Amino acid sequence: MENTARKTPPQSWSPSSWRNFPIKQVPEYEDNDILKNARTQLRRNPPLVGAPEVRRLKKELAAVSRGESFLFQGGDCAENFHADVDEIHNLIRLFIQIAVILTFKGNKRITKIGRMAGQFAKPRSSDTETRDGVTLPSYRGDIINEEDFTPESRQPNPDRMLRAYNRSAAKLNFVRHLAAGGYGDLNNVEFLLLDFLKNAPVTEEYENLVKEISAAIKFVTSVSGTTTEQIRSTEIYTSHECLLLEYEEPMTRIDSITGNYYDLSAHFLWIGDRTRDPDGAHVEFLSGVENPIAFKCGPSLTEDDFKRLITKLNPDNEAGRITLISRQGIGNVEKNLTPFTRIVKEEGYNVVWCCDPMHGNIEKSASGYKTRRFDNIMGEIQEFFKVCRGNEIYPGGIHLEMTGLDVTECIGGLADVSDEKLKENYSTLCDPRLNAAQAMQVAFEVSKLLAEDV
Ligand code: PEP
Ligand code: CO
Repeated sequence: MENTARKTPPQSWSPSSWRNFPIKQVPEYEDNDILKNARTQLRRNPPLVGAPEVRRLKKELAAVSRGESFLFQGGDCAENFHADVDEIHNLIRLFIQIAVILTFKGNKRITKIGRMAGQFAKPRSSDTETRDGVTLPSYRGDIINEEDFTPESRQPNPDRMLRAYNRSAAKLNFVRHLAAGGYGDLNNVEFLLLDFLKNAPVTEEYENLVKEISAAIKFVTSVSGTTTEQIRSTEIYTSHECLLLEYEEPMTRIDSITGNYYDLSAHFLWIGDRTRDPDGAHVEFLSGVENPIAFKCGPSLTEDDFKRLITKLNPDNEAGRITLISRQGIGNVEKNLTPFTRIVKEEGYNVVWCCDPMHGNIEKSASGYKTRRFDNIMGEIQEFFKVCRGNEIYPGGIHLEMTGLDVTECIGGLADVSDEKLKENYSTLCDPRLNAAQAMQVAFEVSKLLAEDV
């Protein structure tokens, strides 16, 4: 039976009340009528996810907050409208493979959330970009404008919200059937391995794992005479940054069972490090929907804002509602995170703690590429586990930017990407992503950290 408790958001809240609050990172649309029409069309469209699924995820996250399972959130920094089916297919295979590694090597149940099927809007450090003396609006993600450096491409276009909706629907359908079918079946773990990784150094460890899993399944089957349904499929939830509120507002619906508001563009939404002002529009918007949500905790977050954010976003201290995504950068975790872990303990906040080791570790390489070092990524994760455990907080998850392609965007790892190699296959539209081998390696390393928690 579903919990049908009706919640009332603050009286002043509505899906459009964010419009009365200061807002950052918004595109400037030229034509208000086109924007209004796009919103109307979105409002008429079916929701992308269902409220009962969203409630299920919240329950899973409540279990993470109690230390009973572990959250894996990952995917592209920015999805784009042109990714072909092989790219999506590879990413989902890798994504499930990582979850399998964490489950079996880390001995934890894994809650899986993709940065996918809607991760199209990007915050930018500058509103404009200048090349050879020409200044144009910055690229803000495919839901807003195009990456090509021409005035037409860079002009924000509201109709792109409809394309983002259609693209998300198609991708979500693909994610669902791959997870419910072959790739979600533990009998098929050997097929998750990507072809180009067949001879990679990280593969041997995976092949050994495949043997262990097959033996475990055989054992259970011979003892009980059957296998359970749970090993035949898996569930991947979707998430994206809740940034473009012109899109999120019309995707917000009243659920007919509970009477509560849900943003049904994705199961899970987070507020980025640049837009988490407790008095700002993004926080106002998410305060009124029932989804599980997160906000990024970067080095500039103050203790006062931290408390105000949690109080505004989770006034009932509901477990599973809030995930705190720490993204401090290597070397900063102990100093910056410790005060927040103390507040959480003192106030008795029910939260999930998750580590994003990507966004605090961006640097410019000597060859001029925006990159991240594998060692810094792993180093921040290690600091995160240490600081959490030292403060009796459960390190509840990791958040990765990764791709199922053999790109050369992050330096290091067994894949041995050097600075000179970055130019060979650097294709991200935004931040540098772990390639498939590097992401698998992170998964094996994290599973060792998880397995220490016995
Ligand atoms: C992101 O997750 O892609 C991002 C922009 O992160 P942050 O808000 O932490 O900088
Ligand atoms: Co990013």
